[in-house]
Amino acid sequence: MCQNVMITGAGKVSGLGYNLVLRFLEAGDNVAATIRKPCPELEELKKQYPGKLTVLMMDISSTASVQAAANELSEVFSCLDLLINNAVSVSPDCDKGFFEADLDLIARTVDIAAVGAMRVIKAFYPLLVRSGTTALIMNISSEAGSISKCYRTNLIDYGMAKAALNMATMNLFNTFRDERAVNIFCIHPGWIRTDGRPDNPAPLSSYEAAEILRLLSEKKRFDFEGHRFITNLDEDYPF
Ligand SMILES: NC(=O)c1ccc[n+]([C@@H]2O[C@H](COP(=O)([O-])OP(=O)(O)OC[C@H]3O[C@@H](n4cnc5c(N)ncnc54)[C@H](OP(=O)(O)O)[C@@H]3O)[C@@H](O)[C@H]2O)c1
Repeated sequence: MCQNVMITGAGKVSGLGYNLVLRFLEAGDNVAATIRKPCPELEELKKQYPGKLTVLMMDISSTASVQAAANELSEVFSCLDLLINNAVSVSPDCDKGFFEADLDLIARTVDIAAVGAMRVIKAFYPLLVRSGTTALIMNISSEAGSISKCYRTNLIDYGMAKAALNMATMNLFNTFRDERAVNIFCIHPGWIRTDGRPDNPAPLSSYEAAEILRLLSEKKRFDFEGHRFITNLDEDYPF
């Protein structure tokens, strides 16, 4: 089935978002990629896949920006079958511990990674429910957002943001579950060389990780019974 897919935070070539765009285009889908600043490589992909890729400017920290992008996409897509909330941003103090970190930087990370994803879901919901099938939302979370398995003393803003995204996922699952028009998961996507550096010890390239997630999306659309926080390998992960 050729589906309409949207991926947020797709403007970094080494990142997961851009590589998800590439994988879904390669699979024959119609793709909307959201960015904050122009991305020449996405413009190249547009030429390579004529009529298949829409690029939208969208800042998920702004409800107005998200709504404007939703209005724009509704001129292109009659529906949305798959939404992948991938965008994230961390504070400069992300690697610091409690005593060193500026705590006033935490709220923005949570606002982007967790509230931002909710803004996107709310604004694009009318397109999602127009899908001819159950629409699927994949919130790209992280093992760092697991409260019960937390072992770190750094990544405070990032961990809090992903834990909040996980809570949002569960809340929205409860909100959508009776209608069954929209299904939703939060997913640890694996350990990935999203910085594109060859000396990064992470086992997966963004291109490899993206295909694993694309295949997972094919599997999870109608699963309303399983655990909501899963890994890229479809294993349950503790909240
Ligand atoms: N790498 C790993 O091993 C790993 C592990 C677990 C989870 N993850 C998750 O996988 C996802 C992808 O990771 P990544 O390293 O590829 O991500 P990233 O490059 O850090 O961020 C993805 C994109 O989010 C965009 N973004 C930031 N703030 C935004 C805003 N306010 N509005 C809209 N877009 C915004 C950035 O756009 P700009 O280019 O404009 O800054 C960036 O291109 C993330 O959700 C990450 O948490 C990664």
